[in-house]
Amino acid sequence: MRNMKKCCILLSSLLWLCMALWLTGCGSMEKKDEKKSIRIGVSLYRGDDTFINNIRGELEKCAKEYEQENGVKVNMDIQDAKGSQNTQNKQVERFLSLGCDVLCINPVDRTAASVMINKAMAAQIPVVFFNRQPVEEDMDRWDQLYYVEAEAKESAVLQGSIVVERYRENPGSLDLNGDGVVSYVLLEGESSHQDALIRTEWSVQTLRDGGVPIEKITGGIANWERSQASALMEQWLEKYPGQIELVLCNNDDMALGAIDAMDRTGISGICTVGIDGTTPGIEAVENGKLVGTVSCDKKKYAGAIFGIAASRATGQEIPPEIELEEGKYYRCPQQIVTKNQK
Ligand code: BGC
Repeated sequence: MRNMKKCCILLSSLLWLCMALWLTGCGSMEKKDEKKSIRIGVSLYRGDDTFINNIRGELEKCAKEYEQENGVKVNMDIQDAKGSQNTQNKQVERFLSLGCDVLCINPVDRTAASVMINKAMAAQIPVVFFNRQPVEEDMDRWDQLYYVEAEAKESAVLQGSIVVERYRENPGSLDLNGDGVVSYVLLEGESSHQDALIRTEWSVQTLRDGGVPIEKITGGIANWERSQASALMEQWLEKYPGQIELVLCNNDDMALGAIDAMDRTGISGICTVGIDGTTPGIEAVENGKLVGTVSCDKKKYAGAIFGIAASRATGQEIPPEIELEEGKYYRCPQQIVTKNQK
């Protein structure tokens, strides 16, 4: 009887040992199954956009760092939609047919994201949108849709506060003709872009709230582009000689365009402010041409796009440092950049 009991104990111990071995074996098999490579499809609304190009550069760095840190090969296919939604839809189809694990899309037409969402949902492939925000109804269609941005109202309030602070320190640096009013012109981005509308509204509002006596001379849409802004500014300088005291720009490229026009016409001393903190924008602040800009942390911006994408592709949790609002929106931190403040 005692021998029988011993035998039973021995057998059950053996059984436990086998199970444990089998389980750890399974664990290592699972390890073998872990993804050794991930495929990410990226589509940019326009590859020649300065800000988007800065983000692209950072995304490429993220992919390299991820490969080094995790030993996972990242196949990142970056395509330029060249301003055509049709081209972008085809790029999405191609990415899906190539077996991409996740898509990162900078939509051409933010109101037409539903076509791309349909395709991604049908293939069960998550999408990280960025910079051009799909409408809320589209974002709410699936819990595997994300959006990364630099919040427009925050950019504008910070931009406005650069001017408010300058006015408080020295009103004469803005009210150049001393008539008690700061006369401004406004260069706006694409009218269909959420950032253009919100930035314009809040930049002007911040000046008012900050007690700067402003008066609008004129404004125009230069579609984020340096050359378009330069052409508009040249016309205004001619039409309103000696009157322009402030140039509010929805982004750095348009601010640089306005500065190009001033340089061409030999005019200086007009306060110009931008948004983005692009490489040429920051350079212009450093050399004193641009009074200030609002810079979003491009490393964090791209890090959020890449981090969400990589975690979706590998089936892991989104890293906690990528703080998402409502489980899907990431808003990148921003800061003022002026010559004295960096
Ligand atoms: C940036 C612009 C850029 C645009 C593209 C904006 O948020 O400020 O510089 O051209 O996005 O969508």
